[in-house]
Parts: sequence; C-alpha cells; structure tokens
Amino acid sequence: MSNATFDFTGKVVLVTGGGSGIGLQIAKDFVRAGADVIIAGRTRSRLDAALTELGPRATATTVDIGDGDAVREVVAAIIGRHGRLDVVVSNAASYIPGDITAITPADWEQLRRTNIDGFFHLAQAALPELARTGGSFVATSSVSGLRGDWGSAIYNASKGAVSLFVQALALDWGAKGVRVNAVAPSITNTEPVAGVTGDEALRRQFEARVPLGRIAETDDISPVVLFLASDAARYVNGVILPVDGGTSASTGQARAA
Ligand SMILES: NC(=O)c1ccc[n+]([C@@H]2O[C@H](COP(=O)([O-])OP(=O)(O)OC[C@H]3O[C@@H](n4cnc5c(N)ncnc54)[C@H](OP(=O)(O)O)[C@@H]3O)[C@@H](O)[C@H]2O)c1
Repeated sequence: MSNATFDFTGKVVLVTGGGSGIGLQIAKDFVRAGADVIIAGRTRSRLDAALTELGPRATATTVDIGDGDAVREVVAAIIGRHGRLDVVVSNAASYIPGDITAITPADWEQLRRTNIDGFFHLAQAALPELARTGGSFVATSSVSGLRGDWGSAIYNASKGAVSLFVQALALDWGAKGVRVNAVAPSITNTEPVAGVTGDEALRRQFEARVPLGRIAETDDISPVVLFLASDAARYVNGVILPVDGGTSASTGQARAA
C-alpha cells in the first residue's frame, strides 16, 4: 500500500465499478482520505460486499452504466442527497478478448455499451455538476487505450475512445474549471485477468515486458487516481497517465540483451 496522503474531507466522490478490483481500491483510498464515496455497479451483492470493507462513509447504487437514463438518475440522486459532486471516477468496463473474426455483434454491442456509451453517459451527466464545484473527472483508461494488444481489438478500440474522450473533454471543460484526466494501467491483478495471473508461464511472460518486473496491484493504480483528482494536480489536465511500470516506454521490440 502506498503511503501517499491526500485530503478529500467534505468531498463527494462517485466511483463506477467501485464494487471490485481497481475501482474498489480507489473507493477505499478516497474513504481513507476523508471523502463520502458512492460506488456504482450492476450487481447488488458485489456492492454490498464492498460496502462492508468501505465502512459507513460509503454508499452504493446499482446502475448499468450503458443506460443513459439510469446514469442521469444516479447523478441526480447524488446531488439530491449530498448537494454536490466533486470527483467522478469513470472506471466501470468490461473486457472481451478475441480475434475480430471470433467476436459476435452481441459481444461488440455489450462491450461498446459499457466502455464507450457508459463513459459518454457519465461524462454528459456529471461534467455540469463538476463545473459547479470546480471538480475533477478521472477515467480508468489502459495502456490498451494507447496502442494495440494481440487478440484484443474491440477492447483496444473502446479504451482508445476513452483516451480521446478524455483529451477532447479536457479542452472543452478546462475553461469551465473541470480537469479531465485518465490513468492508463498495464495488466493489474484483478479477477478479469486471473487467467494470466494464475498461469505461472503466462504470468512470467507478462512480467518480462514490465521494466519494474512485476504485474501491478490495485493499490499501485489507486493513489495515482487520487493524485489526479487532488489539488496537487491542479495544473494537470488532459493527460492519459501510464501507470504501467514502464511498459509503454518500450518500442515493443523484443529484448536482445
Ligand atoms: N485489470 C487490468 O489488467 C486492467 C488494466 C488496465 C485497465 N483496466 C481497467 O480498469 C478498470 C477496472 O477493471 P478491473 O480490472 O478492476 O475489473 P473488475 O474488477 O471486473 O471491475 C470492473 C467493474 O465494473 C463494473 N461494471 C462492468 N460493467 C458495468 C456496467 N455496464 N455498468 C456498471 N458497472 C459495470 C463491474 O461490476 P458489475 O459486473 O457488478 O457491474 C466491476 O465492479 C476497467 O476500466 C478496466 O478496463 C484494468
């Protein structure tokens, strides 16, 4: 666990996908930093389990981020209850691997609806509220939103959309006092990548491509999200910040020495 400290006392923070993985760790760090945190996801039982770890300053709401009306209702309910919204972390996403010839239209629809439409609905609903508080919007993009991966084209396309949404919205909303940024993690130890982390040989292949020599843990990512949302980053706007142990510093060519 990082010992970075931030103070979000009195701030209201929404974390989508906050019931598990990277989002749950982000929610924990914001609670530790004094914020009131709302976690959002589709599965009530997962959110309830997360709340037992987060304690009384966290609440949860079920929402399918791909449903624009539902997302607007969530944002309105937060304003109704807390009177303000200071930080939005757009973190919910799904991952569907496979060559494009193996991807069904239903796969593409599901992934696009969560990863791209979900970002759109959340940004559209939340940015005007963040403008009222001088708040901050942080997305979880990915190194997969910077360049391609083998066998992951639709995920790469969706994360590329997130990265360019972030840069373009940073232009449109900076003058209104809202900073829009993203983290771009490389492979991080969560349930969707258990097939890699649980396979010794595959895990070693991934580790070999990371200059720091290990796969990220969720608490390698979360302090960087808090930094981007914090006053320490008050002049940081429109960045897609790799949190990848140096992975994206490589040209991608094989190691010869
Ligand atoms: N793990 C990695 O290697 C890695 C690397 C780079 C970037 N990322 C990014 O990090 C973020 C978090 O991923 P993770 O690894 O922590 O995986 P995760 O544990 O599966 O987290 C994803 C969360 O999003 C929620 N979610 C999915 N679809 C949703 C929808 N339509 N509406 C609302 N919530 C939805 C899920 O809850 P429900 O299913 O209950 O809704 C889940 O809590 C994602 O944006 C992912 O692309 C992950």
